[in-house]
Amino acid sequence: MERYIIKGGTHLQGEVEISGAKNAALALLAAAVMADETVTIDNLPDVSDINALIDTIAEIGAIVERVNRHCVKINGSTISSCVVNNEQVKKIRASYYLLGALLGKFSHAQVTLPGGCNIGSRPIDQHIKGFKMLGADVKIEHGMIIADAGDEGLKGNHVFFDVVTVGATINVMLSAVMAHGNTIIENAAKEPHVVDVANMLNSMGARIKGAGTDVIRITGVEKLHKSEYTVIPDQIEAGTFMFAAAATKGNILVKNVIPKHLEAITAKLLETGCYIEEYDDAIRVIGGDNLNATHVKTLPYPGYPTDMQPQMAVALTLANGTSTITEGVYENRFKYVDELTRMGADIKVEGNIAIITGVDKLTGAQVNTPDLRAGAALVIAGIMADGITIVEDIVYIRRGYERFEEKLRGLGAIIEIVDSDKEIQKFKLKVS
Ligand code: UD1
Repeated sequence: MERYIIKGGTHLQGEVEISGAKNAALALLAAAVMADETVTIDNLPDVSDINALIDTIAEIGAIVERVNRHCVKINGSTISSCVVNNEQVKKIRASYYLLGALLGKFSHAQVTLPGGCNIGSRPIDQHIKGFKMLGADVKIEHGMIIADAGDEGLKGNHVFFDVVTVGATINVMLSAVMAHGNTIIENAAKEPHVVDVANMLNSMGARIKGAGTDVIRITGVEKLHKSEYTVIPDQIEAGTFMFAAAATKGNILVKNVIPKHLEAITAKLLETGCYIEEYDDAIRVIGGDNLNATHVKTLPYPGYPTDMQPQMAVALTLANGTSTITEGVYENRFKYVDELTRMGADIKVEGNIAIITGVDKLTGAQVNTPDLRAGAALVIAGIMADGITIVEDIVYIRRGYERFEEKLRGLGAIIEIVDSDKEIQKFKLKVS
């Protein structure tokens, strides 16, 4: 089992280039299968979730041409199966986007129930409700979601979500673009990747208005055509490096970002006493000597993102005073707290609130990765800590961070991938 080994104590310095947004790219790949012409998607992050979805799209019969690690051409005219049920796709959450895309295009889809990070109960009732509102019959049998709109196909309708959900907003949008008539989605999620998916679909001939607000209006079209599209930068990867600068008292220029998408993160970093310089497509974060404690609640966009919660917690472990982080999206996103405690952090969890009292230092330890974002946060903790940290199960981190260790090494971190005790000893000798 591969793991990271880190020698802590580095103030990260330098420049880092942010990859394309994983969560946008997953939905864009699913959207691409809806056209019967070639859709080219560029700036895809080279991460395992994306590669698993691309393989799955090829398996159901689409013509998939890998132009390079970051660019793929997909032609959905040859799709021969609406059943998505391979081992790879069971592990990724966004496999459910194929449900909306295939149902929208073929009026029928069967997709295995989604996996993804274990960060609490992750129901899909709103997706199902949306499909049903558009006229589909939806049932769950033998671990598969089966959606069918019969010979008549989907019909536009008014869909009001009970909770703000990124996944259901995108999925219902996908299914509605080729439905008969008009669809209005109310209480829609406003995340940048919702807008990105709408933009790509519109570039393929869809008629979607209002993405980025809480009401999205869609007029169904008969077919979608070819397009060339570039994925937006990953706001969570960017935020991770921004907090890495803050946490390690470093100085990082985070390049290839859309600063507007990072406002909630930037605002929190300023509150903690970091210095920020904003450019057109880059942000420099300079960590203060000691961060100030702060309070935050995670919320749907434009609120502070839940996917940036563990990275912030790590930075606050060494802040002056007591901070609180209230998790407002998921019920079980503090699994990393036990691991940070092993490194000397003082964190108590009461319900959905983590109370973090700043300590003088973290010390290296062997820690387990509970999920993707927490894994990245534990790596940052390892870079902050005195001594050696081993982060297990980096397969989670690879799902969403492209060349994470390489990018960190470029900023001065001492980090390697090891998979045997012998390699661990070798690393320890090298850095001692
Ligand atoms: C997406 C992201 C994930 C991020 C999350 C919130 C992808 C692949 N993943 O996940 O990284 O943490 O947005 O920003 O893009 N809910 C329901 N019923 C539903 C759907 C969701 O109750 O049918 C609830 C969820 O339990 C959660 C909240 O709504 O409490 C938000 O979930 P949602 O925005 O749908 O998250 P995902 O799309 O799964």
